[in-house]
Amino acid sequence: MLRGCSCPHRGRMVRIASALGLIIFSVALLILSLISYVSIKKDFVLGAPRYGPNGGPRMYMFHTGFRERPPRKPDLSSQLALKYLDPDFTPLANSLSEDLQNSSKWKYNSSAFRQLRTEISQHIDIPNNFTLTRNSVKVGQLMHFDYSSHKYVYSIGENFRSLLPNVSPILNKHYNVCAVVGNSGILTGSRCGTQIEKYDFVFRCNFAPTEIFKKDVGRRTNMTTFNPSILEKYYNNLLTVQDRNNFFLSLKKLDGAVLWIPAFFFHTSATVTRTLVDFFVEHRGQLKVQLAWPGNIMQYINNYWKTKQLSPKRLSTGILMYTLASSMCDQIHLYGFWPFGWDPNTGKELPYHYYDRKGTKFTTKWQESHQLPAEFKLLYKMHTDGVLKLSLSHCA
Ligand SMILES: *[C@@H]1O[C@H](CO)[C@@H](O)[C@H](O)[C@H]1NC(C)=O
Ligand SMILES: *[C@@H]1O[C@H](CO)[C@@H](O)[C@H](O)[C@H]1NC(C)=O
Ligand SMILES: *[C@@H]1O[C@H](CO)[C@@H](O)[C@H](O)[C@H]1NC(C)=O
Ligand SMILES: *[C@@H]1O[C@H](CO)[C@@H](O)[C@H](O)[C@H]1NC(C)=O
Repeated sequence: MLRGCSCPHRGRMVRIASALGLIIFSVALLILSLISYVSIKKDFVLGAPRYGPNGGPRMYMFHTGFRERPPRKPDLSSQLALKYLDPDFTPLANSLSEDLQNSSKWKYNSSAFRQLRTEISQHIDIPNNFTLTRNSVKVGQLMHFDYSSHKYVYSIGENFRSLLPNVSPILNKHYNVCAVVGNSGILTGSRCGTQIEKYDFVFRCNFAPTEIFKKDVGRRTNMTTFNPSILEKYYNNLLTVQDRNNFFLSLKKLDGAVLWIPAFFFHTSATVTRTLVDFFVEHRGQLKVQLAWPGNIMQYINNYWKTKQLSPKRLSTGILMYTLASSMCDQIHLYGFWPFGWDPNTGKELPYHYYDRKGTKFTTKWQESHQLPAEFKLLYKMHTDGVLKLSLSHCA
């Protein structure tokens, strides 16, 4: 009887309440697991758990921005934390600590370098593959993209063709000692500017700003890469007069230098490439920067690095510049190549790039496709072999 009147009702209430509870519980669980998924993903961005300067798990600086921490005494424990990043790195960690203490111990091995240059030239004809030339393309020709599905195409127009050089700007160009400057935050506070200024030829990556960081990175630029998406990110797609003026002034500072524009790596650059082409055509004669537009060359470059057991989905711009430099320079020194979030000299946290102090610009996609620690390990091995010089310590 009791049942008859109140129980069904109460039973339903209880059922509704427990169903609601279950829903709330599952939503909470979902949120929690999402949060932990994201943080696990962040911890594993470098392919291995990341550790802080003292070996403890490292807080990631995605949303918090770059937190200032009290300076730590430079100690070996921070340098040796490297070994936690990748067990294979352990044998190199000691030699790295020694290097940081006395970088003048490094010795160049020119025969080893010449051998490497020959190996690279067996995979890629760098002077000729450095840029497309006017005679190597036809108007109406459909270009594909190295890193995109074959269905995407870019039709070569008269304007684009008119911007191509007649001959490769690096044909028969030889320099003695070159610097390839990467963009790692390790350059912040390095005071390497004066040293970098002294090289015969300075390569830079991704149109990185130099003027306000000249103490650390120098100003001299003989060649820089320019991914067309930079227009989108830093110049608002050239939509206002102000944006166009800013871009013009940045290019003006590169008079005489080579602007190396990989327009056929990603189909996502196709639209900005048209904007860029129009801009250069409109300013023909006003700019003295030399344009170079590589075609689909990544397969050749990848094939070479594969022989060194390096085959990420995407090689970094830095190692790509090194590859190009190998045909032009007799000796190559690298600055700003350091893919970890802490400074091996001071143990302090580092911004990802020297020019964005706010924190890292890592995006998930980017982390998945690059293998910077693996690249670094290989470059460091080449450093100890005397093939190249990696500069990691402060210069002054
Ligand atoms: C660094 O190493 C070089 C060559 O081995 C040596 O001449 C120099 O004295 C060392 N400097 C210091 C500070 O240990
Ligand atoms: C230079 O490198 C070659 C290998 O390419 C090696 O045989 C030689 O011993 C190295 N020389 C020195 C001085 O380390
Ligand atoms: C690379 O260079 C070779 C030899 O000069 C040439 O035949 C080929 O078309 C070039 N490819 C690209 C994509 O530049
Ligand atoms: C490299 O660039 C500097 C200016 O940034 C210039 O003075 C120098 O002549 C250039 N060197 C070469 C080899 O083009």
